[in-house]
Amino acid sequence: MSTPSPMEISLQNPQDTVIPDQNGFIAVDSAPSPSLPQDKVLVSVEVSLKPSSTARIDDVRSAVERMLEKRSLSYTDGPVPVPPDDQFLTENVQRICICDTDEWVQNHEILLFWQVKPVVHVFQLSEEGACEDVSGDGQPSTFNEWILPAKEFDGMWESLIYESGLKQRLLRYAASALLFTEKGVNPFLVSWNRIVLLHGPPGTGKTSLCKALAQKLSIRFNSRYPQCQLIEVNAHSLFSKWFSESGKLVAKLFQKIQEMVEEENNLVFVLIDEVESLAAARKAALSGSEPSDSIRVVNALLTQLDKLKSAPNVIILTTSNITAAIDIAFVDRADIKAYVGPPTLQARYEILRSCLQELIRTGILSNFEDCESLMLPNYGSLKEKLNMPEVQDARTLHMCKQLLETAEACEGLSGRSLRKLPFLGHAALASPYGCDPSKFLSTMIDTARRERSELPD
Ligand SMILES: Nc1ncnc2c1ncn2[C@@H]1O[C@H](COP(=O)(O)OP(=O)(O)O)[C@@H](O)[C@H]1O
Ligand SMILES: [Mg+2]
Repeated sequence: MSTPSPMEISLQNPQDTVIPDQNGFIAVDSAPSPSLPQDKVLVSVEVSLKPSSTARIDDVRSAVERMLEKRSLSYTDGPVPVPPDDQFLTENVQRICICDTDEWVQNHEILLFWQVKPVVHVFQLSEEGACEDVSGDGQPSTFNEWILPAKEFDGMWESLIYESGLKQRLLRYAASALLFTEKGVNPFLVSWNRIVLLHGPPGTGKTSLCKALAQKLSIRFNSRYPQCQLIEVNAHSLFSKWFSESGKLVAKLFQKIQEMVEEENNLVFVLIDEVESLAAARKAALSGSEPSDSIRVVNALLTQLDKLKSAPNVIILTTSNITAAIDIAFVDRADIKAYVGPPTLQARYEILRSCLQELIRTGILSNFEDCESLMLPNYGSLKEKLNMPEVQDARTLHMCKQLLETAEACEGLSGRSLRKLPFLGHAALASPYGCDPSKFLSTMIDTARRERSELPD
């Protein structure tokens, strides 16, 4: 690996100094320029506060920074234990987690503490849950709303596994868009927008990825935007049988969003899932097969979205299950477009590994004493393990081979099907209690083959 360069885009305060690196990535550092040695890697450290904590974010951030300085640890993704002798941190902090180092630690390289400048993000999860718009008259709700970062989405980003770089790319695009806005870049000179489109087959995690991205950005940008909301527009319900009401519902919804956006410390994410349904509804209305009311509703929605996209503190997240071009103006102008496909072999292995590890953690899979502490190697270190069978624990090695075989058998299955497979496999077992991981994996291979044979061509 050549000299690492800062990749993380982090915005701490509007007066900050911008230091673009040779790759064009922009890092924002609160110290005066040029304080950041060229070869330091910015690594995000996310600090989740306990629900009961009332400590000031700044105090916790400084305490964590001091703690990291003291420890000469290498940086790899994952939790950092809260030092038990640090009373302030143990009282207030739930979890400290190092994020996004994987781009730097390919080929077994290790990021050592002196190569790293940690960027600490402190946040408290909102426990409120989704707040539905209840109209009380039996109509389906037109939107769900969350205060971010929400407890519900905790861990979602980490659980989504794609070929390397997809999530990072999305995060960096969105972060650049927010930064350009923040710095007041003249849109007539440099054009960009804040519309994200994820497209690909169903079940590949697009909706989840939108929500997880919003959650991530709310954490990474919380110094600039202390309040974040996610509004998920339920496009289907807008075309309910109460068409006469739909126009009013759209107006009400966007009035609410507009109010949120006017508060400049608010960052608002608007998620329109399966946007193709809007295009389809409009087309059907034009051809006369749908009530003409629906065209007014779709048009009203699109006009409102078009208006909204000029607000600096809004990110519009959209998904589509079709890969063909979508005939909706605001989407075809999306800068941040990503194809989300079915998981690769490596992703399948990792998804299944995380499932298995969860079944081991919960004791559903167990038959030997130290089963609980069994850690299956990740895909990266799998090859090495398979090449040196003599130094491995035979049982773990056998399980790895079976897991790889299962992952191979799952080609073509979506991430959603993969996450269901362990459940189906378990249900197919004759004796469901405390079952043997290896026996379980054999059943999984059969289940995978069956699921795959049922796929449409
Ligand atoms: N690449 C993936 N990695 C991990 N889990 C995945 C992946 N793709 C899909 N899933 C699982 O499938 C579930 C459903 O995905 P969803 O976001 O509804 O997909 P989509 O919107 O593309 O139809 C996710 O919550 C996740 O558990
Ligand atoms: Mg979806």
